Amino acid sequence: MQEQTHSDTSKTDMAASIALPPSTKLHQNQLHHSSFRGSPLPPSATPCTSIKQKQHGSKTYLTKISAKFELKPPPYPLDALEPHMSRSTLEYHWGKHHRAYVDNLNRQIEGTELEELSLEDIIMKTYKKGNILQQFNNAAQIWNHDFLWESIKPGGGGKPTGELLELIERDFGSFEKFLEEFKSAAATQFGSGWAWLAYKDNTVDHPRPSEKDKKLVILKSPNAVNPLVWDYAPLLTIDVWEHAYYLDFQNRRPDYISTFVSNLISWEAADLRLQKAKIEAAERVKEKEKKKEKKKDEDSDEEVYVDNSSSESDSDSD
Ligand SMILES: [Fe+2]
Repeated sequence: MQEQTHSDTSKTDMAASIALPPSTKLHQNQLHHSSFRGSPLPPSATPCTSIKQKQHGSKTYLTKISAKFELKPPPYPLDALEPHMSRSTLEYHWGKHHRAYVDNLNRQIEGTELEELSLEDIIMKTYKKGNILQQFNNAAQIWNHDFLWESIKPGGGGKPTGELLELIERDFGSFEKFLEEFKSAAATQFGSGWAWLAYKDNTVDHPRPSEKDKKLVILKSPNAVNPLVWDYAPLLTIDVWEHAYYLDFQNRRPDYISTFVSNLISWEAADLRLQKAKIEAAERVKEKEKKKEKKKDEDSDEEVYVDNSSSESDSDSD
């Protein structure tokens, strides 16, 4: 396995072109073992665990020292999205804001039980049905931004194909209607937040109790909240915090949204995420059935005690 090492993110040269992260192999491995939903390329801010080797006689022991998350660069150079998203926006958005979430979370979890958890587990543990703990915002914002950078690409936009397009047409009426609804969700999210396209395969009642399972939904969420906390599988997101668009569009959020949708969305990423979400949904069904079967077996194995004493005493008394 590729060895992880701490990286001093503060020394990263933002002006340099960004190549694919060196830890891709590790991420793929983590994806394989992760049951978590979301990006097919898992959250890139992965725990960076420091391992110290101790030599005792002929044996070497590994001692875990600390776990930290690291800032992963977008999977393209910072100027690759121009002219639709400027290098300056990426330098501030990724280089300052995203970095601050990583640094803040690392400070917040140091020496706590959260230090040992994955990013997703921290998100779930600190959400507490909306009564969020202070670490939630930073953890979720790291996840959201990792997910965002992979939701867009140079030369993006256009239209999805295949099953994703079919589901969009089935669940929204047409691709054009989907665009209308997605743009509206992004434009009407009051204040800071996010809009999402997500796959719903559960029976969780929140936030739209009337919706049936196994369908696409559009959601918007305030601040750092994301669909993971509602157990939905996100396929696509747009960041509508002002820091995402102010340098390029000032206060013209609708223009930013239109540009994002027409020129930046990576439908390939959304399609991969859909495939992963469906596999996970099928695994959940299997898991549920297994549990049911196990329970049945356990119930049928239970010892049945028949108390005949009263009928015996009845017959004795006859
Ligand atoms: Fe952002």
